[in-house]
Amino acid sequence: MRSHRCGELSESHLDRDVDLCGWVHRRRDHGGVIFIDLRDREGLVQVVFDPDYPDAFRLAETVRSEYVLKVHGKVRRRPGGTENPNLPTGRIEVLATALEILNKAETPPFPLESEVEVSEETRLRYRYIDLRRPIMQQRLRLRRDVTRCLRQFLDHEGFYEIETPFLTKTTPEGARDYLVPSRTHPNHFFALPQSPQLYKQLLMMAGMDRYYQVVRCFRDEDLRADRQPEFTQLDIETSFMDEQAITDLVEEMIRKLFAEVLQVELPNPFPRLTYAETMRRYGSDKPDLRIPLELVDVADLLATVEFKVFAGPAQDPDGRVAALKLPRGGELSRKEIDELTQFVGLYGAKGLAYIKVIDRAAGINGLQSPIIKFLPAEAVLAILDRVNADTGDLVFFGADKARVVNEAMGALRLKLGYDRSLAQGQWAPLWVVDFPMFEWDEKENRWSALHHPFTAPKGDLEELKANPGKILSRAYDMVLNGTEIGGGSVRIHRTEMQEAVFKLLGIGDEEAQQKFGFLLTALKYGAPPHGGIAFGLDRLVMLMSGAHSIREVMAFPKTQSAWCPMVDAPAPVTDAQLRELGIRLRKPPEKAEGS
Ligand code: AMO
Ligand code: AMP
Repeated sequence: MRSHRCGELSESHLDRDVDLCGWVHRRRDHGGVIFIDLRDREGLVQVVFDPDYPDAFRLAETVRSEYVLKVHGKVRRRPGGTENPNLPTGRIEVLATALEILNKAETPPFPLESEVEVSEETRLRYRYIDLRRPIMQQRLRLRRDVTRCLRQFLDHEGFYEIETPFLTKTTPEGARDYLVPSRTHPNHFFALPQSPQLYKQLLMMAGMDRYYQVVRCFRDEDLRADRQPEFTQLDIETSFMDEQAITDLVEEMIRKLFAEVLQVELPNPFPRLTYAETMRRYGSDKPDLRIPLELVDVADLLATVEFKVFAGPAQDPDGRVAALKLPRGGELSRKEIDELTQFVGLYGAKGLAYIKVIDRAAGINGLQSPIIKFLPAEAVLAILDRVNADTGDLVFFGADKARVVNEAMGALRLKLGYDRSLAQGQWAPLWVVDFPMFEWDEKENRWSALHHPFTAPKGDLEELKANPGKILSRAYDMVLNGTEIGGGSVRIHRTEMQEAVFKLLGIGDEEAQQKFGFLLTALKYGAPPHGGIAFGLDRLVMLMSGAHSIREVMAFPKTQSAWCPMVDAPAPVTDAQLRELGIRLRKPPEKAEGS
């Protein structure tokens, strides 16, 4: 039907006859001449209709936005002064000699110009129109470029792409499962995989050596900008490689990806921070290293002061007192500080003490603060020395359980960094390593796995049993600009260790057999040392495209409440279907949101 795509025309096509197909992006009547911006996946081109070709001209008078057209015409240079430097095709236009309307369109529910604010629900309800917007086409093209580049790299490195089942059994990654009832096995359910974790390990036991898959994962969890109920992982597993070899390989892959797709040189090697260090310096295990602010421990200087707000946490082994210096923060008003105090309150902080350094040379008299009257001058001055505070700076303090201080002061660090545009550089990747193997679950009164229960500990069976709270794991996360884009580990490949870890997690023998019996059995038949990683592909593409939500880089995402307004899913099913599945509902089906 066509000879070229609209967006690919350039001066190299001057005087050529072309056939174009596309959508009417915009139509303008200019006293006897009609201009139509014709749009396809590759972009826009201006088509000119003039009355010298009366059939085409008359038809062009009837077209509206989003009509689908076929145009025959000749490429010509735009007259001097009418070029559009913002458009790749802006130096040329097509003089139409014939026009065919391939299809009409009703007025679209929203205009396609990207500056216009449209509610997300409307965008998702008419996603096929939303996706016509040039910005969305660019994002999906970027996604295509990314997966293509990653596949090429892995193919070249000898990985096999192997599919694993969706109808399976629960895979613990910390979220709820999506369940699928079985008709042929009444009262039994499949679970959609939260990740292919166990299958990829079994593939290593099957001798596949190197596996990858671009794979959908399903997690029923609270949604946020960077979380969807179904999302895509680049899932990787290898045999006979340790954590250094695995992280080196995938780091190379990410560097290549950025070089090829974005022409960006990422650092070589990526910085590596231990979990302990990143929590100490940034209050987070996914720090945005572009922000040059750091938390500094000051508990040792405050353990014996009278001010209980500080002394309490300073003496508590689970407590933390951290200072955060904001250079030139002295200009913050009382109102702004009050707002920041409210902000940290969202993370459980009971207050936000601060010291403004009006004149560093004047010592204790050069400070302004609601707390210095409670503190000995030596302690205050020692703190200022430690954080290297200068005239004009402001130092914030958080004092509480370490968890609260880390969350509140970590969030404050990000907020100050973003609000005050302090970020340096565009890309800051890093590895976080040496995670604790377990964390204590207060509510359940037992250990829980920080990564997943198949991650190998750093240490042997005796060390694991002797001190589960202290033992580190062989896990690693890749973090980019404050987002965790990938996580993985070296796995347990021996039965005794796997059984011991299940036991520590409170999974009894019977439960372990029932849930993971196949894994425990497989480990007995020659399981090789193995390990891998999974990248959140949506998150990676989101960051690379500059979008603020992974929904912007998925063709058909769900809303924040895990609902699809376009097909209206989830939806009730018929009584007959339920009967066939042997399911009786506890409550009559209600109409879903928005329907
Ligand atoms: P993990 O649970 O860390 O590890 O997931 C790997 C990566 O997947 C992305 N991700 C998500 N993206 C969008 N929406 C979600 N709901 C979501 N949840 C996770 C993140 C994350 O880093 N089986 C292990 C990997 C392994 O050990 O090899 C796993 O799934 O970017
Ligand atoms: P108060 O004694 O509660 O009036 O608090 C005195 C100052 O300490 C105020 O500036 C509070 O915002 C601050 N503050 C109170 N509790 C904390 C805390 N847990 N961490 C940091 N600052 C606090």
